[in-house]
Amino acid sequence: MKKITDLRARQILDSRGNPTIEVDCVLDDTIMGRASVPSGASTGTHEALELRDGNPERFHGKGVRQAVENVNTVIRGRVVGMDATDQFHVDRALLDLDGTANKSRLGANALLGVSLAVCRAAAVGAGIPIYRLLGGVGTRFTPVPMLNVINGGVHASNNLDVQEYMIVPAGFDRFIEALRAASEVYHTLKGMLREQGRPTSVGDEGGFAPDFAGNEEPLQLIVEAIRAAGYVPGRDIFLALDPAASEFFEDGSYVFRNPAEQRMTPAELVDLYEGWLEQYPIVSIEDGLAESDWEGWELMTRRLGERIQLVGDDIFVTSVERLERGIGRKVANAVLIKPNQIGTVSETLDCVKLAVDRGYRTVISHRSGETDDHFIADLAVATSARFIKTGAPCRGERVAKYNRLLRVEETDGVPYWGAAALER
Ligand code: PGA
Ligand code: ZN
Repeated sequence: MKKITDLRARQILDSRGNPTIEVDCVLDDTIMGRASVPSGASTGTHEALELRDGNPERFHGKGVRQAVENVNTVIRGRVVGMDATDQFHVDRALLDLDGTANKSRLGANALLGVSLAVCRAAAVGAGIPIYRLLGGVGTRFTPVPMLNVINGGVHASNNLDVQEYMIVPAGFDRFIEALRAASEVYHTLKGMLREQGRPTSVGDEGGFAPDFAGNEEPLQLIVEAIRAAGYVPGRDIFLALDPAASEFFEDGSYVFRNPAEQRMTPAELVDLYEGWLEQYPIVSIEDGLAESDWEGWELMTRRLGERIQLVGDDIFVTSVERLERGIGRKVANAVLIKPNQIGTVSETLDCVKLAVDRGYRTVISHRSGETDDHFIADLAVATSARFIKTGAPCRGERVAKYNRLLRVEETDGVPYWGAAALER
């Protein structure tokens, strides 16, 4: 037993400069686990509630002092004395204490901060990494990274409707080589943009964010960059998209604004994606349709689900209940896993387990607002997730996760998923 003797929360800043919560969990008065919580911008409607103070005089209403207070008082009172190695019971206590369906009383950010800090403290106390604590002997593979090299949508101030254009270096034997290739492609892309006289400043997730002639141009440019960097598109490096379609779903239509306004039915948008699949080595599309468009998702899965990975983010929000509904309706074939969408480590693991049991793939994910906490890298290894997406190979809060995976590969020799991640 590793007894929790103290819990302390504070407000820190995330990568966008907004407040977020950091929690220290102390065991036996000597060992400490510290964790912090990320924050989304294209947040799904059904996510657990991120508690913000709403006081316009402090941080434009984005303060998290109430969430901090909740940890330091009511949660601390309940959790101190519990066994940190018993994650399930700690998380259960947090859920009971909150008592709401969407964690709106204490805040999912408060709950997740505590849940993560307890998990890290337990790992420190046991002298093992988090991926071993959570994964045990089931830890088999390091994930293939999906690196967001061009940012659009709400993550950038450019004219792209599609939110994320990712490169997927699956055709390598080791993570270290995959990450090297990704970094080289990223810098080649930067050089190409510079030569064209376009800005190379970056969006929220570290990808480049200039204006484009349309939502297809980034695909052409990335394929060119892969070749120019000396790699073969569709063999060494593949592409993935996150259109985050909930953001451009209006009155039952999907509306692109670049280069001109284009209103599409779900079927027409799927036609567009299908056309892109013919021309570019795309292996994964996340949130190709909106969170509320279940019929559209059924159609998209029938049409594209045998060919590529279809990842549900906003539609599933890391919720066992919603993923179950999706499996029942044959919607998507993969689920995005974001711990802060649901609010505790245990519930996150429950969702991963459901996916694995039912043959859905998992993609472990960061948020657009991040910290230097690299818990999700450990989570990916612990669950042998095929993929992780945590931004460009650029910006401290993004590379913190990739660098963590470099260390795991080096010290523990956990093999890289590589091309096998793309198999059925
Ligand atoms: P968010 O975006 O973190 O801003 O919600 C990430 C995603 O849509 O996958
Ligand atoms: Zn998404």
